[in-house]
Amino acid sequence: MPRTAQTALVTGASAGLGTHFARLFAQDGHDLVLVARRQGKLDQVATELRQVYGIRTTVLAADLTDPKATLHLHEEVVRTGIEVEFLVNDAGFGTAGAFAELDLARELDLIELNVKALTHLTGLFLPAMLARRSGRILNVGSLAGFLPGPFMATYYASKAYVLNFTEALSYELRGTGVTATVLCPGATATEFAQVAKMQNAALFRSSADAASVARYGYRAMMKGKTIAIPGLWNKISQESLRVSPRPVLRSIAGRLNKP
Ligand SMILES: NC(=O)c1ccc[n+]([C@@H]2O[C@H](COP(=O)([O-])OP(=O)(O)OC[C@H]3O[C@@H](n4cnc5c(N)ncnc54)[C@H](OP(=O)(O)O)[C@@H]3O)[C@@H](O)[C@H]2O)c1
Repeated sequence: MPRTAQTALVTGASAGLGTHFARLFAQDGHDLVLVARRQGKLDQVATELRQVYGIRTTVLAADLTDPKATLHLHEEVVRTGIEVEFLVNDAGFGTAGAFAELDLARELDLIELNVKALTHLTGLFLPAMLARRSGRILNVGSLAGFLPGPFMATYYASKAYVLNFTEALSYELRGTGVTATVLCPGATATEFAQVAKMQNAALFRSSADAASVARYGYRAMMKGKTIAIPGLWNKISQESLRVSPRPVLRSIAGRLNKP
């Protein structure tokens, strides 16, 4: 019987939510293109999912803070004749501390990855989806996208971009057969807190389970929902964020993020 598998490209597939997204696609019989910097970790994920689910996997190690690497990634996918039906822009990181004291180069890298690479990949893969009148894009935002975040100023601002960009894109794509979904998790147990050096921050005192968060986002993407907020507490928080005065929001976020 001919294979009818469609392909998902997942960035950030070497750890955390990205590995869980990859597993969800594999469970549904979809082939995978796995992207992140750590080739060894990607190979491990690819081998396991290939063996367990019998899917095809392609590993493309890339540092997505480099726009040339992002372009090269797209060229490689096109060269090998892979049609990306699902694009998951998951790769991202945070930094914690007062902006004036943080390493400026890393703040700019954060924007390169969380904002520019996500936009770049969306722009590169969208035309083929539109031509086929079929495709799904899942961008990983954050609850942080709904408010200003003192002591994580750049990160919160980057996720406000992801939220607004994806929401607008979703509207533009109505009737095209292509959808865009933004997943907005709260604190989730992954490598994120360690990378951001904020394991002890109040924000991470209780974290959601990464598998459940990824599953929620995956289902929302498959249904073509625009905004996906996993967890009852996060939904309530988002509702209260909408009606709270901004000085209150700044102060709450500042207290939660303070290293
Ligand atoms: N965990 C949370 O509390 C939380 C909450 C809300 C939103 N989010 C968002 O969820 C997404 C996934 O994060 P996570 O929580 O799963 O964190 P994670 O466990 O640290 O995973 C981050 C992933 O991004 C990849 N990555 C980092 N820098 C990269 C680069 N320069 N080029 C390519 N890939 C890169 C990492 O792989 P390599 O290191 O191998 O490159 C890893 O696979 C992020 O967008 C994050 O902002 C997380």
